Amino acid sequence: MINEDVRAYIRELLPPRDAVFLEMEREAREKIIPIVEPEVGHLLYWLALTKNSSRILEVGTAIGYSTLWLAKAVLPREGNITTMEINAPRAEAARKYFKKAGIIDQIELIFGDARELLYDLTGPYDFIFLDAAKGKYVEFLDKCIEMLEPGGILVAEDVFMKGMVISGEIDKRRNKTAVARLRTYLQMVMEHPKLETVVLPLGDGIAISTKK
Ligand SMILES: C[S@@+](CC[C@H](N)C(=O)[O-])C[C@H]1O[C@@H](n2cnc3c(N)ncnc32)[C@H](O)[C@@H]1O
Repeated sequence: MINEDVRAYIRELLPPRDAVFLEMEREAREKIIPIVEPEVGHLLYWLALTKNSSRILEVGTAIGYSTLWLAKAVLPREGNITTMEINAPRAEAARKYFKKAGIIDQIELIFGDARELLYDLTGPYDFIFLDAAKGKYVEFLDKCIEMLEPGGILVAEDVFMKGMVISGEIDKRRNKTAVARLRTYLQMVMEHPKLETVVLPLGDGIAISTKK
């Protein structure tokens, strides 16, 4: 969705990433694992840093790339991150990278289905990052708001779903429901009385809400 020149230019401006980040980016590219783009990772890092976040919940770990960006902001302050992933090989890979990056002790990686696990958690969190089960963001919203501290942030990734949410041109029939639900999600977070939200055209579209 983003002009390639703009994307490349923003990426060039990013500070150099250390070896573990680059290794994860390589693995994700080779195995076609969807992870946030480095500029989105950098935005997550910046948000967590400027908000002084110390209790983070992430839904959708994959191999732990976005977790590592968040960790860079919160772990020096002895914060902690809970992250959940339904895919066993990805959760295993994430564990391997957390060890490699020396952050395994501060990350609670829960293997399983967020559609159930989320409801076992109580929070409070000061930062929630939704990056899984796009069709379920609407369903997760009330629970996320309940677990979020006032002033906390809720970030939802991929809200444009490869542009389909904007154009309405759906590539596969099974994406139709997810696209409709993402549109509903965006409307809900923009109008919700407990939230203030901005939607940014970064990565594949990102919605950043803060709890009043
Ligand atoms: C876009 S990827 C996450 C990328 C990761 N946040 C990053 O940027 O490095 C989405 C992940 O969510 C996982 N997922 C999908 N549905 C899930 C569910 N119901 N519960 C937990 N994880 C789920 C998928 O297996 C996939 O690895």
